[in-house]
Amino acid sequence: MYLQKSQEKQPAGAMIIAITSGKGGVGKTNIATNLSLCMASENQRVILMDADLGLGNLDVLMNLNSRYNLSHVVAGKRTLQEITQIGPGGIEVICGGSGIESLANLSTFQRQRLIEELDRLQERSDVIIIDTGAGIHSTVIGFCLAADHTVVVTTPEPTAMTDAYAMMKVLASKDYAGRISLLVNMAQSPAEGKKIYRQIADVAGRFLNVPVYEAGVLCRDESLPQAVRKREPVTLAFPKAGISRAFTAISRRLTKGSIHRAGHEGFFRKVVNWFF
Ligand SMILES: Nc1ncnc2c1ncn2[C@@H]1O[C@H](COP(=O)(O)OP(=O)(O)OP(=O)(O)O)[C@@H](O)[C@H]1O
Ligand SMILES: [Mg+2]
Repeated sequence: MYLQKSQEKQPAGAMIIAITSGKGGVGKTNIATNLSLCMASENQRVILMDADLGLGNLDVLMNLNSRYNLSHVVAGKRTLQEITQIGPGGIEVICGGSGIESLANLSTFQRQRLIEELDRLQERSDVIIIDTGAGIHSTVIGFCLAADHTVVVTTPEPTAMTDAYAMMKVLASKDYAGRISLLVNMAQSPAEGKKIYRQIADVAGRFLNVPVYEAGVLCRDESLPQAVRKREPVTLAFPKAGISRAFTAISRRLTKGSIHRAGHEGFFRKVVNWFF
């Protein structure tokens, strides 16, 4: 029945959304996790991938055990199925580790086989959300360029805003064909967040000639760090909090506003092509 639903709705396979930022610590991991949960609660089959090679902490946030990641699959020590964990709401969580880079050590045949296996994830889900980690280095950029939709996260801090713009500039310079949205986190008020969105979207439109869509605003909310301390995503720990409602609205907007890119090349094949 699921298969039928997916075939009717999304013949092209899962939509891929990359959550990224220029500056670290702006809320990506919390955003990727809570958006995944919101989408799962609306009957989407969600895969959440931690592609942060430094300090991925999806596992901490959801109290999962991520001893094994994609690099163990590449090394032949675990199967993709074995490293996939089922998180709250039935979302599938995969830790990338340095798996994509270590694909370089495989023979062409082995690599092809694994890419095919990864691309099958796209066939059996509706949405794949990637927490890319921060910064404009090649791993992050590779995941964004291959995604249908890149959500750049900033806070009202000037350094975060400048770095968000720098990220957009890199994507524009690589002729990114997907959609770029801006999400303002830790705003003092929705109005402040909206003003920051307008500023950045304006400059990006004028100097980079790319449209930047509005993902939405999340205000600074004490319930988020409180939930983190409980090792629970805030939308589950405090579903009635203002920030949880804002997550629901952003999730709906992203689901509606995202588009599938044309072409039959799978997501992971695109990421890997960027590296090799
Ligand atoms: N809306 C918010 N209100 C209050 N605190 C927040 C909010 N969003 C994030 N934080 C705080 O910021 C911390 C960092 O968030 P998170 O780990 O999601 O950022 P990140 O961008 O993934 O960081 P990194 O770049 O290190 O991966 C959270 O633990 C929380 O304390
Ligand atoms: Mg993070």
